[in-house]
Amino acid sequence: MLKGKNILIGITGGIAAYKVPFLIRFFKKEGAAVRVVLTPYAKEFVTPLTLSVLSEQPVQSDFYNTTDGIWHSHIENGLWADAMVIAPLTANTMAKMVTGITDNLLLASVLSARCPVFIAPAMDFDMYRHVTTQQNVAKLVQMGYHLIEPTAGELASGLEGKGRMQEPEVIFSELKTFFEDAGDFKGKKVLVSAGSTHEPIDPVRFIGNSSSGLMGIEIAKAFADRGANVNLVLGPTHLSAEGQGIAIHPVQTASEMEQACSTLFAESDITIMAAAVADFTPKHKPSSKIKKEDGLNRIELEPTTDILAGLGAVKKKHQLLIGFALETDNEMANAQSKLQRKNLDLIVLNSLKDKGAGFGITTNKVTIIGRDTKHTELPLMSKRDVARELVNTIKQIMK
Ligand code: CTP
Repeated sequence: MLKGKNILIGITGGIAAYKVPFLIRFFKKEGAAVRVVLTPYAKEFVTPLTLSVLSEQPVQSDFYNTTDGIWHSHIENGLWADAMVIAPLTANTMAKMVTGITDNLLLASVLSARCPVFIAPAMDFDMYRHVTTQQNVAKLVQMGYHLIEPTAGELASGLEGKGRMQEPEVIFSELKTFFEDAGDFKGKKVLVSAGSTHEPIDPVRFIGNSSSGLMGIEIAKAFADRGANVNLVLGPTHLSAEGQGIAIHPVQTASEMEQACSTLFAESDITIMAAAVADFTPKHKPSSKIKKEDGLNRIELEPTTDILAGLGAVKKKHQLLIGFALETDNEMANAQSKLQRKNLDLIVLNSLKDKGAGFGITTNKVTIIGRDTKHTELPLMSKRDVARELVNTIKQIMK
């Protein structure tokens, strides 16, 4: 899969830079072309000579090289690369990437890259867990960078903790998998719902829940990464879901979500209802704000339409329909009964009893259950990885 691919490797000034020559070797062995861009400090940790011998290309560090008279164009780097990987990524370069600073060739190349950019942070334990770094990592992931998380272990400082750059083998296999999977959902239309719904009590108040929409957004991104055309019906959220191949349909209420989903469902090959749709909505929705002095003793509710069950009832043979189940008791039995009742092909069970699973956090612990009651219990992992696992399972049942 990597044969003929152009890989742009960015190296920043961290001790883990000494491992990058191995990464270059892995790509070269698979037939990829490798170009290396270094920040000025990176040269202190790994020599340009080693890198150019292994990559079989001169390495780039300055915008203009006075000795060979060559202008290194960041624009050309951006156009050339099929993928870019920055390993190691220091806290400093990370912060600059967040703000768009381009005071060296590597940073300017990142901003010019049209391809997926993978980042492999490496720094000391305290620096990595610092709130600034954590916020910067989250922002870069939000912007669409592919994070290759550092591991925990012994650090160059002698401290122990999370901050070690992933081994070159792991970085290499992340990219290899990316290219193997890229395009396997090309031509497929995927509908994903995500987030909560807000059911108005009056024009300024609502009944809602704390779903952030992250799980559904990650699913939408995972499908888009693999070439699908994704329609994302998205309830109110502070998260951004922008991305190539994703058309966002913002909605507020369960009724708006139902309308959007039923319209888009007809043209969808695969539909995943990850939204936490309100089951009840206020029966009366006054157009003026309810005044305190008028009092409000009770809010009369009526059930919303079960969107997923409605889609299951009209599902055609070629369509796949996947639901979520959020359970607190008799999890397995309840999820299996939802799968049958709503005519689903798969159901993803979230148990609120599991630590690290649920609303408003970046991790999840799920069990994916099929119609044949075959199920896969996944360990606690990031919602991004859960999304990838789900996409892989869907690929298997499509065969
Ligand atoms: N769902 C839906 N429309 C609703 C409620 C839920 O489409 N009005 C979908 C959710 O998106 C999810 C699945 O149904 O994919 C299961 O949601 P969940 O809240 O676990 O179950 P409910 O069917 O609402 O049943 P209960 O609340 O009784 O567990």
